[in-house]
Amino acid sequence: MIVEQLPEAVRSHVREAKRQGRIVGCVPTMGALHDGHCSLIEQARRDCDFVVGTIFVNPTQFGPGEDFSRYPRTLEADLDRCRAAGADLVFTPAASVMYQDDADTVVVPGQLATVLEGAIRPGHFSGVTTVVTKLFGITEPDVAFFGQKDFQQQLIIRRMVRDLNLAVRIVTCPIIRESDGLAMSSRNRYLTETERAVAGDIHQALREAIRLADCGECSAAEVALQMRRRLERSGQLQVQYAVVANPETLEEYQTEERGIEAVALIAVQLGSTRLIDNALLRFG
Ligand code: PAJ
Repeated sequence: MIVEQLPEAVRSHVREAKRQGRIVGCVPTMGALHDGHCSLIEQARRDCDFVVGTIFVNPTQFGPGEDFSRYPRTLEADLDRCRAAGADLVFTPAASVMYQDDADTVVVPGQLATVLEGAIRPGHFSGVTTVVTKLFGITEPDVAFFGQKDFQQQLIIRRMVRDLNLAVRIVTCPIIRESDGLAMSSRNRYLTETERAVAGDIHQALREAIRLADCGECSAAEVALQMRRRLERSGQLQVQYAVVANPETLEEYQTEERGIEAVALIAVQLGSTRLIDNALLRFG
């Protein structure tokens, strides 16, 4: 596995792979890799011939007071995981390489980035779309892999790729969970033992939402309310949102129509840690 820190070096490896007719896959990450990230690399390995992982804790997607400085940085272990999952090349740039002092251009997403995560974390998605565009410019992938875990993120990236005519296909991969259902996240390591014990409630609330939608007796608004109640039961999770929305537009559903596809989206604060999760629903 090749490890490179400079864009030009990455580009020359990728161009060589393409000259050989290989399909290039890219898996952008911020490191602190867990089985969720590895599942994306493994999917890229199955779908592509040359797999590029990127590890970069992107400063522009963290707001003031967020966890940029304490975000876990575990490069050596991450490289081992990339190797085991089948990456051919890992790009690990320094911040100064990604952002010149006089950088003057950003990619700003629109409506989709104003709700949910975007409402709570102003500027976050602009940081994401800017860095992802840069990573696409450097790694020139045919296919890029993102997790459903960050549902709004993959939606915004899909829309950006369409709107800006970027020559990359986006694949969204399923959420990988711990044995109690907690979605794997680099931020789970911030949880204390007591917090970790209640964190499983998030998945329980989503399972309840799936069941209620399935049985066909609840409106979307009722399902959202039941999710919130389940989350609030322990008294430890502070609910930021618990909604049932249109999976294309992220508008909250108010209707009682049957046969609709939806996404249940949750964000909670648990002590000093912020956790998000989601599940696709179908109203029977
Ligand atoms: P990061 O949080 O490191 O996540 C990298 C990728 O792994 C994202 O596509 C995310 O959705 C996916 N992922 C995280 N947890 C997962 C899980 N439990 N199951 C499946 N996939 C999971 O998302 C980012 O980094 C950044 O915003 C980035 C896109 C790299 C831009 O900086």
